[in-house]
Amino acid sequence: MSSSLGLTPELVRYLANANPPEHPALIRCREETARMPNAQMQISAEQGAFMQVLARMANAKRAFEIGVFTGYSALATALTMKSLHPVGARLLACDVSMEWTAKARDYWREAGVEDIIDLVVAPALETLDQRIAADEEGAYDFGFIDADKTGYDAYYERGLKLLRPGGVMLFDNVLWSGRVADLAETTPDTSALRALAQKTRADSRIHAAMTSIGDGLLICVMK
Ligand SMILES: C[S@@+](CC[C@H](N)C(=O)[O-])C[C@H]1O[C@@H](n2cnc3c(N)ncnc32)[C@H](O)[C@@H]1O
Repeated sequence: MSSSLGLTPELVRYLANANPPEHPALIRCREETARMPNAQMQISAEQGAFMQVLARMANAKRAFEIGVFTGYSALATALTMKSLHPVGARLLACDVSMEWTAKARDYWREAGVEDIIDLVVAPALETLDQRIAADEEGAYDFGFIDADKTGYDAYYERGLKLLRPGGVMLFDNVLWSGRVADLAETTPDTSALRALAQKTRADSRIHAAMTSIGDGLLICVMK
């Protein structure tokens, strides 16, 4: 699990105790993922709690997520969506890994939200374009993007098509462990994150706020 940038282990523990208790399936997902080699890809528990509040504020009934991994963020979102909308909530979950998303399904099943999650294992851009072609423009309340950074601009444009006015879209890792502020760093990932930050701050289609939650969370609200 990642933790918010710059937090001491004591503050991480304090936050864990200050936030509402995690669902047992979220705890199992976090603890089992912590033993995996790519564990740092998972969002932190405090970010999950924050996203749940945002999903609630957006009254999320229909949502998309790009980048599932072992399913923690999708599970946090789906739990909130199902509590808000016991009938009709749907979360479109996109990832390219069969192996990781098989684990995710197991946690979703344990939590009783598997029935509201449509997992599509394919490049996310294809999936989003299919949904746009299927007349789903403006049908989504909430989106979370946490996958390949060079794809963020394309996900942003597709996301703006899919969201309703007032809908909320979040981009993870926008501070990239601080590398975005290091001018000597010009990798494609870092450059893509900087370009998105420049674009969203001047984009009249949205209201945006970049925060230092997790590894940097960019919050966009559709006008
Ligand atoms: C940082 S992890 C996601 C972490 C997850 N949100 C969580 O809470 O644990 C990134 C994920 O994006 C997926 N991914 C990478 N490129 C992708 C693409 N083009 N389309 C869909 N998923 C992709 C990876 O397989 C990986 O599972």
